[in-house]
Amino acid sequence: MNRRAAIIVVLVMAGLAVWVGDVAGQRLKQPKPDLDAGERIYKQNCVNCHGTSGKGDGAAAEKLNPKPADLTALATQAKKDAELLEVITFGRPGTAMPGWMREIDEREMRDVLAYIRTLAAK
Ligand code: HEC
Repeated sequence: MNRRAAIIVVLVMAGLAVWVGDVAGQRLKQPKPDLDAGERIYKQNCVNCHGTSGKGDGAAAEKLNPKPADLTALATQAKKDAELLEVITFGRPGTAMPGWMREIDEREMRDVLAYIRTLAAK
């Protein structure tokens, strides 16, 4: 290999290393949740029970026992993301809360969770 070819090889390898590192970095980083998507998902799937404000006063709430959770409540908001995501994913046995793993993917669950977090202050 002549000197010029060797330099080109080194440059290509360096570029590749930077690119691979970048891709790996993006994978590791949690993508920022999409609040608009979260709101859309919430309004589509959750409003009926949890209500527009999240207080658990949706149209279907009256007939349910136990009532849908008040998502704005301190008790709920104090729970860790992982805990709430588990309920959203698998539902809560013994209540009307269904699991959503077949309807919405992991990314969307994070979006809807992020949206729920914004309901706290309202
Ligand atoms: C059919 C009615 C219904 C629908 C639809 C529904 N939920 Fe629920 N949800 C409930 C009930 C009932 C509970 C449990 C209340 C309890 O534990 O006393 C609950 C509990 C929860 C909790 C746990 C709160 C806590 O403090 O532990 C979260 C989070 C939640 N729901 C989010 C959602 C999201 C997000 C959606 C839409 C993707 C949704 N729910 C749709 C009825 C519903």
